[in-house]
Amino acid sequence: MDNLSAEHRTFPPSEAFAAAANVRAEGYDRAAADPEAFWAEQARRLTWATPFSTVLDWSDAPHARWFADGTLNVAVNCVDRHVESGHGDQVAIHWEGEPGDSRDLTYADLLREVSKAANALTSLGLQAGDRVAIYLPMIPEAIVSMLACARLGLAHSVIFGGFSAEALRTRIADASARVVITSDGQYRRGTPAPLKAAVDEAVAAADSPVEHVVVVRRTGTEVAWSDKDVWWHELVDQQSEQHTPEAFPAEQPLFILYTSGTTGKPKGILHTSGGYLTQASWTHHAVFDHKPDTDVYWCTADIGWVTGHSYIVYGPLANRVTQVVYEGTPNTPHEGRHWEIIDKYGVTIYYTAPTLIRTFMKWGADIPAKYDLSSLRVLGSVGEPINPEAWMWYREVIGKNHCPIVDTWWQTETGAIMIAPLPGVTAAKPGSAMRPLPGISATIVNDDGVPVGHGQGGYLVVDQPWPSMLRTIWGDDERFRDTYWARFAAQGYYFAGDGAKYDDDGALWLLGRVDDVMNVSGHRISTTEVESALVSHPAVAEAAVVGASDPMTGQGIVAFVILRASATGGDGADGEALIKELRGHVAKEIGPIARPRQIMVVPELPKTRSGKIMRRLLRDVAENRDLGDVTTLQDSSVMNLISSGLSAGS
Ligand code: WT7
Repeated sequence: MDNLSAEHRTFPPSEAFAAAANVRAEGYDRAAADPEAFWAEQARRLTWATPFSTVLDWSDAPHARWFADGTLNVAVNCVDRHVESGHGDQVAIHWEGEPGDSRDLTYADLLREVSKAANALTSLGLQAGDRVAIYLPMIPEAIVSMLACARLGLAHSVIFGGFSAEALRTRIADASARVVITSDGQYRRGTPAPLKAAVDEAVAAADSPVEHVVVVRRTGTEVAWSDKDVWWHELVDQQSEQHTPEAFPAEQPLFILYTSGTTGKPKGILHTSGGYLTQASWTHHAVFDHKPDTDVYWCTADIGWVTGHSYIVYGPLANRVTQVVYEGTPNTPHEGRHWEIIDKYGVTIYYTAPTLIRTFMKWGADIPAKYDLSSLRVLGSVGEPINPEAWMWYREVIGKNHCPIVDTWWQTETGAIMIAPLPGVTAAKPGSAMRPLPGISATIVNDDGVPVGHGQGGYLVVDQPWPSMLRTIWGDDERFRDTYWARFAAQGYYFAGDGAKYDDDGALWLLGRVDDVMNVSGHRISTTEVESALVSHPAVAEAAVVGASDPMTGQGIVAFVILRASATGGDGADGEALIKELRGHVAKEIGPIARPRQIMVVPELPKTRSGKIMRRLLRDVAENRDLGDVTTLQDSSVMNLISSGLSAGS
């Protein structure tokens, strides 16, 4: 990346935008003067069954309780109250299917669907506190299922449809999910692909906690059937459209979402209700300047990730959004699909990821030029640092130089946006997330936990509790403390795992992970997880995985493997076949997103005297441009590079 301290271009909002903005500059001062009063005020944007009298209880730190004596129903906040206030006919979801089918759901429709689904889940014997796994493509039933769980006080665990049967099995087992909601298949770049088969495999395990599998018909793909299976349309359609919601405590678990950490085992991040919804909803209102009567919002994430939870389902629906939900990939059936959808619905707020913006850049500015994008007024970015070139392209080509860009930093663990410009206030710099939002206190510290000054870098920490913070790691509180709170225990800071720096003007720049977690197309993947998948293959004796910088995906997965003696000895062609097999093996074990970009076979791995793999050296090797894309067993260039790096003492 360019010299970050040298970025002096700033892009303030227009006067007209600033004058009409939901949040003005004084928001920062008011929140700083009394953060708890600020969050209590934002919590009152929600509808509570029992009003809260306490705001933050931090007496059992690092376990926070927010608004703990209040009760509410999250689904009522996202659906019922909008119908009750006379907005039943407002479109909640403009759904666009990949093959070109589409469906509009109003808030009244959503209330009927969620009520029926809640009755259906109750009929399966589920009770508040139970867990439900959701493994679905981006279809309305996915959102309806999440809201039905919320309505009943069930915690959902959504598992991304790109994850493998094995990944699904371990997540279902860890959460002890009693029910799985899935579909017969999902569209992938124009063709139906099976989905339920992975559930069948996961549920077949002897120790599976799953009692029922509810199956949505989406692709018409033929599926195997067991006595645990029931069709969504047979179970849900016959239910009553009436459902009386119950209120739950603010700290009722809302969802568990698995994310990769530095070990092979994914972490089940637990979020609860009142504080989570407060921050998801307020940040959606503030950062996107969302106006419920006029905006058409579109977040391009999948509900399998936290962005889909907080900025498709909970935050936007609590704010009475009208939003686009799109099932498919951005180039199906053509590379103008997103611009076509923006044109069709008059999308005003568009929220996507840098990896996609770079892909659009590669496809060319002449593609968006064919569509009317004049409805757009706010553009968002999330998932990884956005490089200044991509930021400028986004601003000029998509935003026509008049849309504020909000680069939003947050994590599965933080639950909602933490660091971002305010579109009506901030003079944003291309590539910087700028500063923490009102009510949020985050800083950059050195190794000793001491805050650094302008022009300096270090570790990003959050130094005050926030409403949507994770409450623990499901079933592993010790890991929760170790991972996030041990590094700066003396100061009591939350360790985010990201490097960051302040530029000379004090703007905050994210610099990527400082742990063994890779960021591939905005998705977190652990190096250890990919290493474990590789060594589970009979041909592999040892593996080391690094994230190498990649112009499109941010980082690409590069693996170095030592083969077992029994697997070596083939010629070059065999080597290539084996590498292909190993890449496929990782995709099968974890999911296609974890398929290594490159696998290099090496006779040994560079290690420190204490036996730790020298990842930094391997990353240098992986990023070396002299190296071809395919390295065969005979190729000694990798080892030469490793040994020259070792002798150079790096
Ligand atoms: C990690 C969290 C937040 C939803 C999507 C990813 C990186 C996220 C940014 C940003 C620089 C970012 C960080 C963070 N990240 N947003 N705007 N600028 N880096 O959620 O899978 O929990 O990953 O994504 O490294 O720690 P996640």
